[in-house]
Amino acid sequence: MKLLGISGSIRKESYNTRILHAAAKCLPEGVTMSFSDCADLPLYNNDLDQDIKPESVERLLRSIKDSDGLLIATPEYNYSIPGVLKNAIDWASRPGYKSVLAGKPAAIVSASKSVVGGARVQLHLRDVFSSTLTPVVPSPPFLVPLVQEKFNQQGELVDADTMRRLDRYMQDLVKWVGRMNDR
Ligand SMILES: Cc1cc2nc3c(=O)[nH]c(=O)nc-3n(C[C@H](O)[C@H](O)[C@H](O)COP(=O)(O)O)c2cc1C
Repeated sequence: MKLLGISGSIRKESYNTRILHAAAKCLPEGVTMSFSDCADLPLYNNDLDQDIKPESVERLLRSIKDSDGLLIATPEYNYSIPGVLKNAIDWASRPGYKSVLAGKPAAIVSASKSVVGGARVQLHLRDVFSSTLTPVVPSPPFLVPLVQEKFNQQGELVDADTMRRLDRYMQDLVKWVGRMNDR
């Protein structure tokens, strides 16, 4: 099984990107995760969305297509989805209802510095994924509040509770993605 991790933050020291990498370490044997970078995507422009697309867009589409499931880890920006992530989803969402996102199982992690842990971006993303026909793992939302307290000085995830929850979430995700792809 191949999972694709997409971070909603392009910040060099992003907590969300680090959580994606921590999640990759929880995967059982036979499951791998690669990572997609939203930083080099142009702003969505329907004029550029032709048979031949910008190379960075082609790469994104290929990596989603080749994956069995997606793991999104994202901050909340102004109570919603960061522009870079929404832009990537917009590129991946065409043609409508028949895109690489249609039917692609996805899970969402949100980590933020606030006490609500990105609860609102989770809801907004679920709404967007209903427009792209992307099923979201039927689990309680995985939130990481006060994320700045969960890492050490070296940028390693050290909070035992978050690590335990992440591990369980990844085991559940792998089982669910397996079931979705067997259908
Ligand atoms: C433009 C901007 C808007 C933000 N808005 C929110 C917000 O609405 N809710 C929230 O919990 N945190 C918000 N934050 C704080 C982020 O949770 C925090 O910067 C987080 O570390 C970003 O994730 P990253 O480390 O993966 O880049 C905002 C940060 C920025 C830069």
